[in-house]
Amino acid sequence: MIKVKKRRVLLLPGDGIGPEVIAEVKKVINWFNDKKSLDFEIDEDLVGGISFDKHGTPLTDEVFYKALESAVIMLGAVGGPKWDGVEFSKKPERALLKLRKELKLFANLRPAICFEQLVNASTLKPEIVSGLDILIVRELTGGVYFGEPRGIKPIENGERKGVNTHTYTSSEIIRVARVAFDLAKKRSNRVISCEKSNVMEAGQLWKEEVQSLHDKDYKDVELSHMLADNCAMQLVRNPKQFDVILTDNLFGDMLSDEASMLTGSLGLLPSASLGAKNKDGEMRAMYEPIHGSAPDIAGKGVANPIASILSFAMALRYSLDLDNEAEALEKAVQEALNDGLRTKDIMSDKMKEVSTSQMGDAIISKLQ
Ligand code: IPM
Ligand code: MG
Repeated sequence: MIKVKKRRVLLLPGDGIGPEVIAEVKKVINWFNDKKSLDFEIDEDLVGGISFDKHGTPLTDEVFYKALESAVIMLGAVGGPKWDGVEFSKKPERALLKLRKELKLFANLRPAICFEQLVNASTLKPEIVSGLDILIVRELTGGVYFGEPRGIKPIENGERKGVNTHTYTSSEIIRVARVAFDLAKKRSNRVISCEKSNVMEAGQLWKEEVQSLHDKDYKDVELSHMLADNCAMQLVRNPKQFDVILTDNLFGDMLSDEASMLTGSLGLLPSASLGAKNKDGEMRAMYEPIHGSAPDIAGKGVANPIASILSFAMALRYSLDLDNEAEALEKAVQEALNDGLRTKDIMSDKMKEVSTSQMGDAIISKLQ
């Protein structure tokens, strides 16, 4: 068993704008080390397409072992059109999926919060999104992403068949539902669980297991069930009806992208992927912005580092038990926005447009 090193932070910037936004996170970590004597050990390595280019694989064994012994992994983004032609098993995304699966990071927390300063950046009417605060809890190591059998195989008549399998076991459902109920208790105490129990047996099992866990251990939390397609519709019709949304891997992927646009920009939203605590209380976890590698703007210094910086705030809170530092960092982000500083993606009238590193520096100066 490889032990988790408590203060070890592994930076995996990856592809596209990943290196630019993770560079700002590194500045923040160094600030905490210098000014608050927080002795984080930083390590940094390649993942995704850039690793494939150098080593012929999107995740080397060496990096995988580093990931196993790090308490916190800060991932930037992986992928891009450059690797479209690469064989499926070597695609940049496989690195991300392997890390999630092998590190058993089954609970993916994706908050969608609409900052008051940015109410007008959403494509929805201000009154629909103002004050929005949703938490999506997405199951991350099961479902159709990993189910067997899978593959593409030849069949009769020269045709081919693509197969993926959507499966969930009771325990996979229950452990992530528990995370959602526990988090709801610290918020508005409401969970809406989404599946397609009307067409999928795995969805029916999902619904039954969530309900029986609720009846057994979480009677004090308000639980309702919603079909995932209806949830997609309700998210744009009346998003403030939601507090915690609990859902599977594929629906969570889609619903979280949809929810992110309620807040104005994909560039703002952090995420945490958490594993189970072992008997020594140690937990592996990976933190990443929700946005992708955005190859169209990579290298231009215009990417928004806020999602990554807020992901590090989640790391301070969930992995490092540094709630005060997490709050301070979140407050510093708010203050930079209050000063009218905006990266290109959230730029609006009368605001001051800043680059990726200027935004990072401004947030750090607010931490002082
Ligand atoms: C996400 C992404 C990933 C996913 C891709 C990059 C594999 O879209 O984290 O939401 O589908 O899970
Ligand atoms: Mg996605």
